[in-house]
Amino acid sequence: MTIFRTKPVEQSIQDAEGGEHRLRRTLSALDLTVFGIGVIIGTGIFVLTGVAARNTAGPAVALSFVIAGVVCGLAAMCYAEFASTVPVAGSAYTYAYATVGEFPAWIIGWDLMLELALGAAVVASGWSGYFTSLLKNFGVFLPEAIAGDDAVVNVPAALIVLLLTAVLVAGIKLSARFNAVMVAIKIAVVLLVIVAGLFFVKAANYRPFIPPSRAMEAEDGLAAPLIQVLFGVTPVAFGVFGIFTAAALVFFAYIGFDVVATAAEETRNPQRDLPIGIIASLAICTLLYVAVSLVVVGMQHYSTLSISAPLADAFRAVGQPWLATLISVGGLAGLTTVVMILMLGQSRVLFAMCRDDLLPRPLARVHPRFRTPYRITIVIGAATAVLTALLPLGVIAELVNIGTLFAFVIVAVAVVVLRRTRPDLPRSFRTPWVPVVPAVSALASLYLMLNLPVETWIRFFAWMAIGTVVYFLYGRRRSRVAAAERERILKA
Ligand code: ALA
Repeated sequence: MTIFRTKPVEQSIQDAEGGEHRLRRTLSALDLTVFGIGVIIGTGIFVLTGVAARNTAGPAVALSFVIAGVVCGLAAMCYAEFASTVPVAGSAYTYAYATVGEFPAWIIGWDLMLELALGAAVVASGWSGYFTSLLKNFGVFLPEAIAGDDAVVNVPAALIVLLLTAVLVAGIKLSARFNAVMVAIKIAVVLLVIVAGLFFVKAANYRPFIPPSRAMEAEDGLAAPLIQVLFGVTPVAFGVFGIFTAAALVFFAYIGFDVVATAAEETRNPQRDLPIGIIASLAICTLLYVAVSLVVVGMQHYSTLSISAPLADAFRAVGQPWLATLISVGGLAGLTTVVMILMLGQSRVLFAMCRDDLLPRPLARVHPRFRTPYRITIVIGAATAVLTALLPLGVIAELVNIGTLFAFVIVAVAVVVLRRTRPDLPRSFRTPWVPVVPAVSALASLYLMLNLPVETWIRFFAWMAIGTVVYFLYGRRRSRVAAAERERILKA
C-alpha cells in the first residue's frame, strides 16, 4: 500500500455522478465568468494598489499588475486544461490525486485551506473595516472592542461570514444570483473610477514613471523575503526591481480565478465552459486592474496615495467626496462576493476530500432539497467566522499567497505528468507549448513564493506538518482508493 497511489480520472468523474454526493448542474459559461470576477476583484485592487505604488513601484505599479497577470495567465492555462479533462469539484486536489498520488493530493487539499478558508477570513476582516468606516460616514460609531483593526472580537466580520454561509447553503443558483448583483455593482464602480478618474489625471503625476531605485532598509530576520536570506540580495525599492517586488504583492488581487474550477460539478457543460470561465474572468480583471492603477496614479502623486482606501481617497483628494463614498459602497459589495466565493470553493474542495474518505464521508452529504454540500459548508462557515473574529489576520495574510502559489506549482507539474501517463484522455482545452508553458508557470510561481518573508515560510511548513500528521493518523488507512485496492488484492 503506497501513499503515492493515484485515483484514475474515470473514477473521479464517476464519483461525481453518485447519488447523495451529487450536486446540481446549473451554471453556464457566463455564470462562471461572473463567479470568477466576483472572487477576483477585491482587496487587491481596492486596497493593495496604494501600498504597492507608494512603497515599491511608483506609477509603474500598472506594470506590476501586468506581470502578476501574466504569471496568473500561465497558471490559468494549466488549470483550464485540467478543468476540461477532470471536471470534478476538488480542483487542484483532484488533479494531484489523478497524477502525483494520494499523499501529494492530500497535501494540496490541506494547502488550499490557506487560499480559501484563510483567504475568506482575511477578506472578511477587510470587509469589516470598510463597513465600519462607511457607518461612520452616516454617523454610526461601533465600539472599538467589537469592530476595527484592534477589535478583541471582530463582530461584523463574523456576522457577514455567517450570513454568506446561509446563502451558500440555500443553493448554488441563489448564490450565483446574489453574486451577479454584487458583481454588477462592483464592475460599475471600477468603471466609474476609470472613466471619472480620467478627468482628474495630471501628466505630471506620471513623471518619472519608474522612479529611480533606492536601497530599502534591510529588514532583519524573519520579516525579510526568503530570496534575500538565501542569496544575500540587498532589497531595493522602486526601479525595475521594485516593479517585480510589487508584482509579488499585487498577486493577491488575482487570487480566485482558479476557484472557478471548483464549480466543475455544478456546470452544465464543464469541458467547454470551465476553460472559458477561468480565462475570461482573468482576462477581464487584468484589463480593469491595469486601467484602474494607471488612472489612480495619474490622479494623485504616488507618494501621497492612501494606504487603506486608495481608490476612494484619490477622489477625496481631488475634491469629490460623494464619489469617494460611492466607491466605498462598491468596495463593500466587491469584498462581499470575494468572501462568499472563497468559502464556496473551500466547501467544494473539502467535499471532494470527504467523498474520497480522506476526511469523514458523512460531512459530504448533499442537502436533499438545496443540493448543496450543506454540512461541510456550515463547518467551514463556523470555522471561518471564529478565525476572522479572533485572529489578527493582517499578520498572516501572506500565508494566503504562499498557499495559492504552491497549488499553482503543483498543477503546472501535474499537467505535464498527466500528458505522459494518460495521453489518451480527451482534453477539450490543451495548454499550449507543453512542457514549456507549465515549466515557466511553475518557475514564475516559485519566484513569487521566494519573495515572501521567512516567517511566512515557517508558518507554511508548520501548517503542512500538521496536515501530514492528520493524513497518517486518519486518511492513509481510511482512503477509499486504498480500500478498493485492498479488496482487489483479497480477491486475487
Ligand atoms: N483576489 C481577491 C482580492 O483581491 C482575493 O480580494
